[in-house]
Amino acid sequence: MGLAEFLALIHERFQIEVSLGGLTNPSVEELAGLLNSRQHLAGARVETEPDLAKDVVLDPRWKVRSLAPAGTPSRHVLLTGATGFLGTFLLSEVLRRTDAEVTCLIRAPHQKAAEARLGARLRRYGHEVVGEPRVHIVTGDLAEPRLGVGDRQYSALAREVDNVVHCGARVNFVYDYDSLKPVNVDSVSRMLDLATSGQPKSVHFISTLGMLMSTDRPRGVPVLEDGPPDCERGLPNGYEQSKWVADGIMKAAIESGLPATICRPSMLLGEMQTGRLAKTNEFVARITKGCIQLGCWPAVDTVVQLLPIDYVAPLIVEITKRPASLGHVFHLAHEKPIHMLRVVEVLRRAGYRLEPVSFGEWKKRLMRLGPRVQENALFPFLGFIHHLEEWHLSMPDVDGTNAKRVSAECGLIVDPMESLIERLVAYLESTGFLAGP
Ligand SMILES: NC(=O)c1ccc[n+]([C@@H]2O[C@H](COP(=O)([O-])OP(=O)(O)OC[C@H]3O[C@@H](n4cnc5c(N)ncnc54)[C@H](OP(=O)(O)O)[C@@H]3O)[C@@H](O)[C@H]2O)c1
Repeated sequence: MGLAEFLALIHERFQIEVSLGGLTNPSVEELAGLLNSRQHLAGARVETEPDLAKDVVLDPRWKVRSLAPAGTPSRHVLLTGATGFLGTFLLSEVLRRTDAEVTCLIRAPHQKAAEARLGARLRRYGHEVVGEPRVHIVTGDLAEPRLGVGDRQYSALAREVDNVVHCGARVNFVYDYDSLKPVNVDSVSRMLDLATSGQPKSVHFISTLGMLMSTDRPRGVPVLEDGPPDCERGLPNGYEQSKWVADGIMKAAIESGLPATICRPSMLLGEMQTGRLAKTNEFVARITKGCIQLGCWPAVDTVVQLLPIDYVAPLIVEITKRPASLGHVFHLAHEKPIHMLRVVEVLRRAGYRLEPVSFGEWKKRLMRLGPRVQENALFPFLGFIHHLEEWHLSMPDVDGTNAKRVSAECGLIVDPMESLIERLVAYLESTGFLAGP
């Protein structure tokens, strides 16, 4: 059992919330002490949100030295997160759509281990670029000063790279903001340090539409891509909070003249035609299975935003290739999102018995499972769901004009949302993750 699942179990048994960030040195002793103190405090606890706005700062030492766009076309890309789901597709698409050399920053004890990890991930996601001579590797860690890269290699990156695609992050709905900040927020400032050292670089930051899910957002007003800074209160979890801050730092950097873009994709699905590669440990797959197991679906009045990985990755690379993109934000959203209740219809058509119920009733039924909750696919997200309110599932209405323009220019087309969900279900059945109706 993973630590997150263990803490979900503690929550289920004792009704006490222990965040992963709250455990500095997870030992039985520490946990017992924490449970004791929390039991005394039960009822008196006040939920506080971190002060996110105070972390949206540009280092005063940091100066944009050149407003000129970096190399066009780019000759050398630094890619972070290359071992991840989106990162492997981005690497493959950069190689396919540009002639640039690509250096991947990878967490590993040494070069050989990094090469092996990247090779294994590329094979896992079905990419045929293993052993490609244009791919170089540098070991590092986004959470460390100077990205955990040795001095000589850092100087080489500063000198040689003209384009940074910062995709690496801890994508985790369970950890709190403070735990995620070193990777998801501080890495952005470190990347800006690098971008302003050596030769001028453009920076492309992979954010998320999820950072727009504030409860303070006015409803019914589409969020514009190049619009003003966004509301921060009431974001659903530490992950969205960390991405909100990182996105804000990037926005400030753009305003101070850095040639950069921010790409905010919706939640990612597997490949468009087959649904293949959907991540079964992710929220989309788990909420689908968890609701099927429960026999009910939360009838929230909202649209669902999902996009296939093999639409998002090429689109991001096309955005990064265009000098006209610099200085802009891109909402990578489905042009025709569907209402959440239509998802229930799709699942019913696939043969699953599912009734739409109010959000409160859905949550109650999940929490009432008692010890059997461990068998539900949503179990790892229980701590997160405990705090979830109906409006947290409410997708903001987003305007995606900038992204749509690039997508049209390079002929990228995405299938209707219902087809994407049908293929997701078929794929999850084919892997055995869903047992079938
Ligand atoms: N998945 C989605 O639905 C979605 C939606 C919108 C936006 N995004 C954004 O897209 C990006 C990629 O997401 P994903 O789904 O591909 O996530 P993922 O599969 O979990 O990949 C995360 C990547 O970041 C790397 N990373 C994490 N911590 C690191 C550290 N301390 N130092 C160096 N590298 C580190 C991971 O390396 P290791 O292999 O070493 O762990 C991995 O390569 C993220 O920025 C995320 O916010 C994702």
